[in-house]
Amino acid sequence: MVLWGPVLGTLLVVIVGYLCLPGLLRRRKPQEPPLDKGTMPWLGHAMAFRKNMFEFLKCMRDKHGDVFTVQLGGQYFTFVMDPLSFGPILKDAQRKLDFVQYAKELVLKVFGYQSVQGDHQMIHSASTKHLMGHGLEDLNEVMLDSLSLIILGPQGQSLGASCWREDCLFHFCYSILFKAGYLSLFRYTKGKEQDLLQAEELFTKFRKFDLLFPRFVYSLLGPLEWLEVGRLQRLFHKMLSVNDNEEKGNMSNWLCYMLQFLREQGVSPAMQDKFNFMMLWASQGNTGPTSFWALLFLLKHPEAMRAVREEATQVLGEVRLQANKSFVLKLSALQRTPVLDSVMEETLRLRASPTLLRVVHEDYTLKMASGQEYLFRHGDVVALFPYLSVHMDPDIHPEPTTFKYNRFLNPNGSRKVDFYKAGKKIHHYTMPWGAGVSICPGRFLALSEMKLFILLMVTHFDLELVDPDTPIPPVDPQRWGFGTTQPTHDVRFRYRLHPAE
Ligand code: HEM
Repeated sequence: MVLWGPVLGTLLVVIVGYLCLPGLLRRRKPQEPPLDKGTMPWLGHAMAFRKNMFEFLKCMRDKHGDVFTVQLGGQYFTFVMDPLSFGPILKDAQRKLDFVQYAKELVLKVFGYQSVQGDHQMIHSASTKHLMGHGLEDLNEVMLDSLSLIILGPQGQSLGASCWREDCLFHFCYSILFKAGYLSLFRYTKGKEQDLLQAEELFTKFRKFDLLFPRFVYSLLGPLEWLEVGRLQRLFHKMLSVNDNEEKGNMSNWLCYMLQFLREQGVSPAMQDKFNFMMLWASQGNTGPTSFWALLFLLKHPEAMRAVREEATQVLGEVRLQANKSFVLKLSALQRTPVLDSVMEETLRLRASPTLLRVVHEDYTLKMASGQEYLFRHGDVVALFPYLSVHMDPDIHPEPTTFKYNRFLNPNGSRKVDFYKAGKKIHHYTMPWGAGVSICPGRFLALSEMKLFILLMVTHFDLELVDPDTPIPPVDPQRWGFGTTQPTHDVRFRYRLHPAE
């Protein structure tokens, strides 16, 4: 027994030494970017990064310039902050940068999903087939039905019934978009009341998981929170179980296609449930928060709200709700809304903050737009954070923190796609969906469903903030780098459905 103390002590020293030594020994080699290991062995800058990634990267860029390597929890990340130099990384013609390896480890930790050969390409082909083109047209119909069901209830609005209601805007948008997205993709049955109840229950759990998510990814949860995450994961696996859902209802073609692939690869039903959980997260974690920011910007900018409403009237005509009927909306109109498109693009520019990561699996030389060459070391991770380096660049987007609803419109009203940095035309002038091999395969569906929701809200409802002077809440700093950001607190608003005829 007495021997345990020294043994454990030695073991600890060996482990700590093993973890910290490579960091202590690492030196910047010629041609490598500036190296900043931070003061803490192994941890490096992890704490400052996790606390507020945006502010941390701003400081690092001011200190080191457009390319630098930082140590974060034993791993070295090289951030490239010059968007004119993104091209070679995103195209990766040398085939030395790997998205899949990093993603595999992350999804195993977060969703318990063990990736199989070819699944990444399969997700993208399923999405090209079913979340774009004709597949998307079919889904838009289903989405409109789901939105009607959630907003109006199974019976629709009764004649003349209409009164002001008060709610919290973030919760309101997130809950509606989540439930509509879930029902449309995962479970579309004839038992409407039951569907609504299940979607509501799932949303409550989803939000609990969502709130823990950033600290879970960074391994910062307390013991009780770890237990809670495990419990929630099991619950999602159960609620999204392939066995149950095949019996109860119809899944979207998108999901059926992907599950079919997994079955053919011999993936067990339990692992398919975990895949479903991952897809629920990918498909429902961003649309609600983005719609919240879009509606809030419209409520805070009456000139933008007027322009969106005018455009809606032009493309949809005067819309009236029929008693006990669903919403009716010409879905082809979604293709003819440049003003709303610009509002969405501006909202995503201001509030979507993905991190793009690629593992360097062979030493890699990046030639920057300036002509300077940098060597990236095998085993490190290349990272892009376009929110700071693109979305907030005043050269590309003057007054970058201001919401300008027509920023993405030409004077003739068409979509603006010409943006410049240092006088050069820039290809990636916003990157809310990521880019290259990991670009969001659901982006067309995401835009359609958010636009549908906003069109319904602005055409069928009166909307106002409870306190019109309430400022736009700041972004919760823990959520930088995780897709669409969320506010530090909610905003109260009221809404009134126009009376049915
Ligand atoms: C506003 C809404 C959305 C935003 C801002 C968004 C953003 C993103 C981003 C930035 C990525 C890439 C992450 C990376 O590089 O690691 C991504 C991946 C993904 N998104 Fe979206 N997304 C949205 C909605 C959706 C929807 C509605 C779906 C499906 C119906 C979807 C499905 C996926 C999937 C499956 C992936 C993983 C792709 C892969 O493994 O390569 N997303 N999304």
